[in-house]
Amino acid sequence: MSASLRPLAPEALTEAQAAEELAALAGEIAHHDRAYHERDAPEVSDAEYDMLVRRNRAIEALFPDLIRADSPSRRVGAAPAEGFAKSRHLAPMLSLDNAFAPEDFLEFAARIRRFLSLPAEEPLRFVAEPKIDGLSVNLLYEHGRFVKGATRGDGVEGEDITPNLLTLKDLPRELPAPFPELIEIRGEVFMDRADFVKFRAEQEQALAEREARKASGGKLGPAVNVPVNPRNAAAGSLRQLDPTITASRPLKLFAYAMGQASAIPADTHEHWLDLLRRWGFSVNPLSTPVTEAAEFQRKMASERAALAYEIDGVVYKLDRLDWQARLGFVGRAPRWAIAWKFPAEQARTRLLAIEIQVGRTGALTPRAVMAPVFVGGVTVTHATLHNEDEIARKDIRIGDTITLQRAGDVIPQVVGVVDADRPDRGPPYAFPTLCPACGSHAVREGEDVVRRCTGGLICPAQTVERLKHFASRGAMDIEGLGEENILLLHEEGLVKSPADIFRLKDHAARMRQWEGWGKGAKGEAKKVSNLLAGIEARRRVPLERFLFGLGIRRIGAQNAKLLARHYQSIGHLRARMLEARILGSEAREELGSIQGIGPAIATELVEFFAETHNLDALDDLLRYVTPEDVAGLDAGDSAFAGKALVFTGTLETLSRAEAEARAEALGAKVTKSVSKKTDFVVVGADAGSKAAKAAELGVRVLTEAEFRELAGFPAT
Ligand code: IVH
Repeated sequence: MSASLRPLAPEALTEAQAAEELAALAGEIAHHDRAYHERDAPEVSDAEYDMLVRRNRAIEALFPDLIRADSPSRRVGAAPAEGFAKSRHLAPMLSLDNAFAPEDFLEFAARIRRFLSLPAEEPLRFVAEPKIDGLSVNLLYEHGRFVKGATRGDGVEGEDITPNLLTLKDLPRELPAPFPELIEIRGEVFMDRADFVKFRAEQEQALAEREARKASGGKLGPAVNVPVNPRNAAAGSLRQLDPTITASRPLKLFAYAMGQASAIPADTHEHWLDLLRRWGFSVNPLSTPVTEAAEFQRKMASERAALAYEIDGVVYKLDRLDWQARLGFVGRAPRWAIAWKFPAEQARTRLLAIEIQVGRTGALTPRAVMAPVFVGGVTVTHATLHNEDEIARKDIRIGDTITLQRAGDVIPQVVGVVDADRPDRGPPYAFPTLCPACGSHAVREGEDVVRRCTGGLICPAQTVERLKHFASRGAMDIEGLGEENILLLHEEGLVKSPADIFRLKDHAARMRQWEGWGKGAKGEAKKVSNLLAGIEARRRVPLERFLFGLGIRRIGAQNAKLLARHYQSIGHLRARMLEARILGSEAREELGSIQGIGPAIATELVEFFAETHNLDALDDLLRYVTPEDVAGLDAGDSAFAGKALVFTGTLETLSRAEAEARAEALGAKVTKSVSKKTDFVVVGADAGSKAAKAAELGVRVLTEAEFRELAGFPAT
């Protein structure tokens, strides 16, 4: 069987054809699963495999009655054990940077002007939209029909909740023409305040009745959750395995954004919102074009309490979509939008204790343990105390009454002490100088505000944190290997290093003996096999996730991506890092020249690869895991794919930031210094030594106009 393209769009299939194809797909996908997982001999590329899985889902979404008992979407590996199939967004669902004060907004606008090279007097028009704290969803329409809907998840992949979304009356199933052939529409699902209050009361009642049944030994019925805030209520209602439950909940949907689209159907965000309305979506009626954000912000802050739903700020989006496209994204947030949050809510409570957590790099982080207090929509019992110096500066002592604040989704923070002058106050807090997990000395080096455990590999807390990081969503994303299981596996001595995770299959029999892991109660029988399947599914991973998972200090997801793009394979990266130990070596210079990798990061990397135990752990891991090489982007696609580019001098029609961002988007590596490895030097006005060096080395020099043309900018 082959992964050939199937000609008919799912909606063009008759029921009989759909049934036939689903049967064929079930067999075909199972065949590839076995080839991949059991024989380690995949016969198709991941992309071809994904295409089969997507095709299967698309048909199932249209013909839910035909979903087979052996459907690939129901199997482990394809579907999370909890019951929802995963769904990959065609375009990632991003988050927003936050502003908290007028200066933050001004800086945001100034950054846009700089990036687009706009004069300061050019007014920027934004559309302001109240930011509802609900649940964002991604709605896929093909040929004007709703075919699939998913939660945001980690932004790349969410949960397929199509049947639940179909119960929302705000969701049009068909769009009136004209519409693009394919379009992802994003919006927020939420619950009005009044509906929430009523719903919570009903749930409290149901809980009380259940407790009474429990006391009298009667039949219990399903578990009851009492939601703490509207967001929580909306999330719980939407993530029900039984859509009839979702249907009974008062959920609403406001649409606001576009994901992937086969054609962009508007020129401004304002027109886009008009179009959404015409297609039958609800759009927040308070959404308004503005040039004065501060004024709108004040207005919303004063009207906030009277709104039917809770908002935690206002989202400002640049109106012109062509500018949005030019601005693009940094990391996970667009350059063209910002969430201006309302001031944090404050509350008072008593500080009961200070806990010290040990992170994966050995950092000792203090955390406040407090009497429970309701603030910013949730009950909190823990807050961050940042570091040793912060505690001393605020003179925070155990037993104090403290002011706490929480803004939206931000971790609660301790603002200060309220009753510092009471007579019976305890002694100042003494920050530990020994690691609470392993007893090693904890020291502060140089200017560092952070005290770190020196226990390294012998510190169990660091080991567990590194393992948690390795398995986490942004890294290896191992299904079933959450915090709790890692702790247990570590305590039982089965997992000490990342490679041990891949050796767990040798211990399946032992794990099945553990309470809750065996063949006992319903749902337990599969725990071990699900976990092992989750692990097997990660024997191939994108290089950037693998690098991020190693947990090297300062190598976050963004830097891991830069490194992956630059070095392209783990073997090459490993070899170059060993060479880079020599200061002044070519490899060291190469590392230093990667745009976005500063000297501190470079040092951290080189030090990591200089440690034998790190290399041993890495090589051990590589016996099981294959990080996928980053293919030089299809060279046919652009003149810059895989090429090293240096900008020098002042560009006249483009900002440096935009020029660099476009070159990178086209697959170029933008570096800072010219060497014989450089492919192009783009020379602006007043270019200095770099232009001379390019000439000397015979590197191809481009004028700004030539760059514009090769990069596909319209001529000026
Ligand atoms: S736009 C790139 N618009 O805020 C565009 N988001 O921090 C990203 N949200 O996950 C989203 N109201 O859940 C956008 N009018 C609005 C929004 C909104 C609420 C939420 C959404 C998103 C989060 C981003």
